[in-house]
Amino acid sequence: MAMTGIAAWVELQIHAEEFKGAHLKDLFEQDAKRFETFSFSYDKYLLDLSKQRINQQTLNNLIDLARQQELPSWIERLFNADKVNDSEQRAALHMALRQPKGASLQHEGKDVVSDVQASLAKMQILVEQIQNAQWRGYDGRPISSVVNIGVGGSSLGPLMVCDALEKYAPADTVTLDVHFVSSMDGSELEKLLPKLDPATTLFIVASKTFTTVDTLANANTAREWLLAASKQPVELINQHHFIAATASPSAAESWGVPISHQLLLWDWVGGRYSLWSVIGMPIALKVGMAQFRELLQGAHQMDKHFRQAPLASNLPVLLGLMGVWNINFLGIHAHAILPYDGRLAQFPAYLEQLEMESNGKSVNRDGQRIAYRTCPVLWGQVGSNAQHAFYQLLHQGTEPVMCDFITPAVRYDGEGDELQKQHQLSLANCLAQSRLLALGDSREPESDGASKFKHYDGNQPSTTLMLDALTPETLGGLIALYEHKVFVQSVIWQINPFDQWGVEQGKKVATSLLTQLGSGLGDGLDASTDGLLRHIQQQTRGAGQ
Ligand code: F6P
Repeated sequence: MAMTGIAAWVELQIHAEEFKGAHLKDLFEQDAKRFETFSFSYDKYLLDLSKQRINQQTLNNLIDLARQQELPSWIERLFNADKVNDSEQRAALHMALRQPKGASLQHEGKDVVSDVQASLAKMQILVEQIQNAQWRGYDGRPISSVVNIGVGGSSLGPLMVCDALEKYAPADTVTLDVHFVSSMDGSELEKLLPKLDPATTLFIVASKTFTTVDTLANANTAREWLLAASKQPVELINQHHFIAATASPSAAESWGVPISHQLLLWDWVGGRYSLWSVIGMPIALKVGMAQFRELLQGAHQMDKHFRQAPLASNLPVLLGLMGVWNINFLGIHAHAILPYDGRLAQFPAYLEQLEMESNGKSVNRDGQRIAYRTCPVLWGQVGSNAQHAFYQLLHQGTEPVMCDFITPAVRYDGEGDELQKQHQLSLANCLAQSRLLALGDSREPESDGASKFKHYDGNQPSTTLMLDALTPETLGGLIALYEHKVFVQSVIWQINPFDQWGVEQGKKVATSLLTQLGSGLGDGLDASTDGLLRHIQQQTRGAGQ
């Protein structure tokens, strides 16, 4: 499947045809300096592409492709607040959220950085009130538990970062339990609420639009719980137990959150790019505002690298182009994200939204159906756990899969010998798995006997991304690296990564089905949905008898 009219695309197809028989084992044997040639470092990040099925020609051709697709000018358009989200006529200015104080970025005649700083300052006041035990619940006791109610970008990013940076919780303030609930069916709240004291629990309703039914349903259930436990008027409960993080202040106010307890973001912050904004309040509550600012700083450094570094040594560009090579030229349509660090357990789920909601598109910026592949299926898990789960498929299945191995080089410094050994064990496994996936085993497959089941073909490509250590700063950089990688791929594929029309229609269909569930009328439905509806009604009647 080809992109027409792009010479570098055709060059890459020819090159891939010539190169497709190459095995990573041979590539390593032929070139002792392969690591030096194909690993790239910037600041505290090392990107090793030597286990990708590439040679210098591949990289040169990919850089040509990036140039022919005008990547440098697209990067400038992104940073200059152009309306790169063309289907919604919006800029995508998540980088402004991590600009330092004093910087400036004009958007529609306004300096957005000063707005951002004002919003963060308000967030800091609320965070410090809560952390210093000055925010009181309905019976006068200070808040000890915070529950973030949100879904998608209003949950996955903050959840992932809170989990990753837990050990950075400040020692000199109240230790807050920070929880996340998303699921529409109420099961997370059902489990969590009995463990919480309503008088000391604060809910953050995180919703950019403040229309997401999942979030509003959970918020309503939380408020019902508070009202039942407290026997207080709803205004008092709203005042003491809810904060809203939103771009729709009027909707949040109509629901009941007073303006003074609202934290604002803007329509130019995409949901899946919003953890840097007030949507990141749970992060600041968990690890403190100073560490939250370090996270922003790490991302800002990566922004500068992305904007300034030459294409051939630009980490997000190289990461994005590797994906394009694997997907469009080597026919690899599955991507596993494998952190070898339990603190990054939520990172694959976070990337699932970032990558698949951004680039899961089949129509280009001009609205034309495209004839080449875009975002692959992406999933993952902590690598060492996945070794005992789905690595069998990576090693011996029929599906080619590209893998990202992510690990810090150093961990547990001064925290005891046994933990140090555990980190060494994890590193050894990380390196062993990427090595075996690349090289396979040395034996030739035998045609008979048990050994034929034990053969490893190898030649599964992978990238290893090594951080010096996992800190708020490097985590910020890591996330920004993937954000920009997604943008790079969108430019190559000529798609808009900042809209998500594909999630809208399902919401409408669900709204009309909800009415039909209530009325029992399944008119106009397909036979399957009608049959399921009738079955639910029978079961519901049965349960009520
Ligand atoms: O339905 C998808 C989506 O719109 C995501 O893009 C977004 O992150 C999520 O829902 C939550 O949206 P909101 O923050 O507006 O509740």
